[in-house]
Amino acid sequence: MNNKKKAFQSVLPATVAACLISMSSSAYAADNSDPIKVGVMLPFSGVYAGLGESTRNGLKQALKEQGNTIAGRPVEFIEMDTEAKPARAPEITSSLVDNQHADFVVGPVHSGVAMGMIKSIKGKDSIMIIPNAGANAATGAFCQPNVFRTSFSSWQTAFPMGKEAYDMGYKKIVTMSWNYGFGKESLAAFNESFTAAGGEVVKKMLVPFPKTEFQSYLTEIASIKPDAVFVFFAGGGAVKFVKDYDAMGLKGKIPLLGSGFLTEGTTKAQGPASEGVITTLHYADTLDIEKNTSFRQQYEALYGKPADLFAVQGYDAGQLIAAAVTATEGNTSDKAALIKQMEQLEIDSPRGAFHFSKAHNPIQTIYLRKVVNGQNTVIKTALENLEDPARGCKL
Ligand code: BEZ
Repeated sequence: MNNKKKAFQSVLPATVAACLISMSSSAYAADNSDPIKVGVMLPFSGVYAGLGESTRNGLKQALKEQGNTIAGRPVEFIEMDTEAKPARAPEITSSLVDNQHADFVVGPVHSGVAMGMIKSIKGKDSIMIIPNAGANAATGAFCQPNVFRTSFSSWQTAFPMGKEAYDMGYKKIVTMSWNYGFGKESLAAFNESFTAAGGEVVKKMLVPFPKTEFQSYLTEIASIKPDAVFVFFAGGGAVKFVKDYDAMGLKGKIPLLGSGFLTEGTTKAQGPASEGVITTLHYADTLDIEKNTSFRQQYEALYGKPADLFAVQGYDAGQLIAAAVTATEGNTSDKAALIKQMEQLEIDSPRGAFHFSKAHNPIQTIYLRKVVNGQNTVIKTALENLEDPARGCKL
């Protein structure tokens, strides 16, 4: 039986508190009116703006469920637009950590920004919660005691698809992504399991980030005629890629596979072009889990649109903060105590309950999904309780 502390079995704060195993009492004597400061570093402009908005919505939904107070203390958000530009990371992080003394910094979406943030937050008295960026090193070679991730590693989301693709009968594949850390790691993880199964990647294509002119690459794919194509694109780039793939006549001829970001929060804008696209991810709209149903209903009521994975990950960052601060009875000054609580929590996520690995990355199930009537629908479980190898992490 799992002995992790359960966080948020219900959306009701009173029930939430009751679900937490009793916590060590500390000599905390702060003024309860002191806000818990949550810095938010997300892209609110640029190609990942939609991802940033969903993440923020989910984060705020989780804290709204607590009445925007935890252990009697109000929650204060300080929001910064990263624009998904790695160069902005050190300055913004330092402003939140050194000037504002944020207790938590939630962000970012882009892996390059994450690596800059980690360097700036290393050894500091703030806790970073990554609600998306998948850079393997964040919970691998650069893992830190004060860095947690409620999302995934690059490896976790793409590795399962290599074997699935081979089992679907595809032997020769073209891979393609934006040319930056997360994209390259996703293609490498796909390649790892695809070639181990016996497949061959006949061409790897890298597109400068955040370019969305795909025509020349698609023309080349048409001439190569692979059995299938595996890609990573997200946000505005995913919308454009899937539509272009269809418009260039490739849909229906060469099956399109991806890590799930290709169809997350994008199917409405992609329209019929997204139908039938097959991906792997740790979430699906149709997951038949009570927590997913209630989360999606509330999200839609609050924001007037369907939830997506990015909202789930933001929501879980909020749940993590609330559970940890509840566990320390509102004490945020002892960060080591907070971290200890976070390491022991089980998060009752809409994706299914998860807990953290030693490296602070979720151990979670990855699903094979297909877009049906605009929804990411589960075909089957690809890999259950998958733990990132955390290569190089010394925690
Ligand atoms: C990343 O840069 O890590 C990332 C961005 C968008 C979706 C998934 C991952």
